Amino acid sequence: MTEFRALRIHNDNGRHRAGIETLDLDDLDDGEVLIRTRYSSINYKDALAGTGRGKILRRFPLIGGIDSCGDVVHSSDPRFREGDQVLVTGCGLSETRNGGYSEWLRVPAALVVPLPGELGPFEAMTLGTAGFTAALALHRMEQNGQAPDMGPIVITGASGGVGSLAVDIFSGRGYEVIAVSGKAGKEEWLRTLGAARVIGYDELAPGAHPLEKGQWGGAVDTLGGEILAGLTRSTNPWGSIAAIGLARGMELNTTVMPFIIRGVSLLGINSAGCPSELRAKLWQRLATDLRLHHPEEVVNRVVPLEDLEGIFEEMLAGRSWGRNLVCTNPTDS
Ligand SMILES: NC(=O)c1ccc[n+]([C@@H]2O[C@H](COP(=O)([O-])OP(=O)(O)OC[C@H]3O[C@@H](n4cnc5c(N)ncnc54)[C@H](OP(=O)(O)O)[C@@H]3O)[C@@H](O)[C@H]2O)c1
Repeated sequence: MTEFRALRIHNDNGRHRAGIETLDLDDLDDGEVLIRTRYSSINYKDALAGTGRGKILRRFPLIGGIDSCGDVVHSSDPRFREGDQVLVTGCGLSETRNGGYSEWLRVPAALVVPLPGELGPFEAMTLGTAGFTAALALHRMEQNGQAPDMGPIVITGASGGVGSLAVDIFSGRGYEVIAVSGKAGKEEWLRTLGAARVIGYDELAPGAHPLEKGQWGGAVDTLGGEILAGLTRSTNPWGSIAAIGLARGMELNTTVMPFIIRGVSLLGINSAGCPSELRAKLWQRLATDLRLHHPEEVVNRVVPLEDLEGIFEEMLAGRSWGRNLVCTNPTDS
């Protein structure tokens, strides 16, 4: 019997409970690929799931963690062999399936992505769902005609996981990036990642008219609510806005004017449900033309499973910055 540690989330008659437990391989889900994990990462959705403050899990109990990366130990699917380095992000982890806050993971082969190019497990989880989401936003915006000469790209929640990686990826692609952050003291760091300018939320000046002066070529928004509504009013003609998150609210009060007068597009970004062909293609790009320029600077810290709960609280309070990685295998720490 192989015993291991994992952060498992329960719902006891409506009461949330989560903690480190000792499990064995029979506690994992079915699937063709058994992975000895090495790293996971902490995303906003993990914090919602791990604290019970968001309805993320659709069955209980489940191991948390929407990201995982490690080595294949066994595969009954010929696409993978023992020793292959692989990653899994989204795809129902910590939602309908046991996730990555565990020393072991078993999943169907269809969810597994071979580590592309020269990405090692650490850089793969530096990216994780956050980096994949930033790349998906760039992909959808460019597919919709976005180009650097259309004006600067505003990135909200810029000091967060998705935000900071978007700053690196969009600036690396030649866009002038305006990073919007509520954190004093992170300006220099955001400039190091590639921001041309760092502004506060008060400087976004969304106004209240259905259309305000066009200022931005496009936007990557992780916050929703009034911030996103303001971006629809101040984006230049034909610009695209990638709607990614809801850290400030899930409502959206705007008018149709930006869409029918300026041809602005609001693009929905859903990383968890991304079709597998596009998923594999974007991971390839993250290892090549969208490769991070500042992978080390973007990492805030690497923690063991035991530290997760404190970081969940920090994240939900908006105090976290950069990427927080989890070392799931004690031999890697
Ligand atoms: N659609 C998708 O597929 C997808 C994928 C990944 C994430 N998301 C969503 O994207 C958002 C960001 O995720 P993340 O993992 O990057 O989270 P994160 O690392 O916690 O970053 C969130 C950032 O938002 C800013 N923020 C402003 N007001 C906030 C508030 N009231 N509470 C919390 N943060 C606030 C903060 O940055 P500043 O201080 O710099 O403003 C914070 O660091 C979340 O809503 C998440 O659910 C969606």
